[in-house]
Amino acid sequence: MKNNKISGSICWESPSNIALVKYWGKKGRQLPRNPSVSMSLKNSITRTKLDYEPKKIGDQLSFLFEGKREVSFENRIVKWFDRLANEFDFLSDFTFFISSENTFPHSTGIASSASAMSSLALCLCSLEEEVLGVHKDESEFFQKASRIARLGSGSASRSVYGGFAAWGKTNSFSKSSDEFAVSCSKQVNPVFQDFQDAILLVSSEKKEVSSTVGHQLMENHPYAEARYAQANDNFENLLDILRSGDLNAFIEILENEALSLHGLMMNSSPSFTLMKPNTLELIDRIRSYRKTHNVPLGFTLDAGPNIHLLFPKLEKKRVLPFIESELVPLLENGKYILDEAGSGPKKIKK
Ligand code: PMV
Repeated sequence: MKNNKISGSICWESPSNIALVKYWGKKGRQLPRNPSVSMSLKNSITRTKLDYEPKKIGDQLSFLFEGKREVSFENRIVKWFDRLANEFDFLSDFTFFISSENTFPHSTGIASSASAMSSLALCLCSLEEEVLGVHKDESEFFQKASRIARLGSGSASRSVYGGFAAWGKTNSFSKSSDEFAVSCSKQVNPVFQDFQDAILLVSSEKKEVSSTVGHQLMENHPYAEARYAQANDNFENLLDILRSGDLNAFIEILENEALSLHGLMMNSSPSFTLMKPNTLELIDRIRSYRKTHNVPLGFTLDAGPNIHLLFPKLEKKRVLPFIESELVPLLENGKYILDEAGSGPKKIKK
């Protein structure tokens, strides 16, 4: 055993992200069928601590979420680590004790696999540097972390960057790759740099159909090819819009992506719906408020019933009273989380 004397602890915080152009459908080793782009959040964060010590016979990985053992996620991590044996040949030298907590309230139905998997991927990349005693340059480090995160959860590949990140090969973006995400924050218009995301909590019930199953259902989906073509167009157009700052065009693509994603779920075979009646009522109220008050706000949805309401920071004074008076009565326990574009992961010093 090469690493029989090394033990220690590494900790990273990493954000959740909201996809503007969605990844839905995959191939090969967790590679996307189409490019996607997302905004990383500031307050919806997972903090993960990776403790490691030399492995003894019979030792097993353990995973605690907010202090409690989480067997299903533990199994997912074990499988992911098995797939990473070629990437990190030191993995079998150690026993790992992983503990993780979210800064956002749990049981709210907010997806946390992107923040959880990206924070753990970053811990593994830091551990690699400690074991090998070498430091990668920053862009190489985050590129590897993105690739490792992708193998755990596709959308996690985008969470290793702050601001805006794109994942998936496209002709219009020379640095793009199916293997890892790249930052596209530099090209983004200032109006988007502190963009707000009010996460409107419609239901915290466990989803009836997981994203994993949803991706699989794209395999024989009658609209699969049309969807991938649409996503490619939306991706290219959205990159231009992120540069130009055209908010009306932004909202059009944002909502088209959200409803296309949920449309694909509804006409999958078997079919499923993740939206709830209040999701539709919220969409209706958001659209009519936009029309009557001429405020540039738009919604998107993850694979779930909650609405992400996106708007520029300078509209906060108008939008918050609208949320409070017209939207809060439709929310589960009246709850929403005000988040915004964030600056990306942070390594936590011991
Ligand atoms: O990363 P996964 O396998 O949980 O899939 C994420 C799918 C969406 O959140 C619906 C879209 C996306 O691009 O994040």
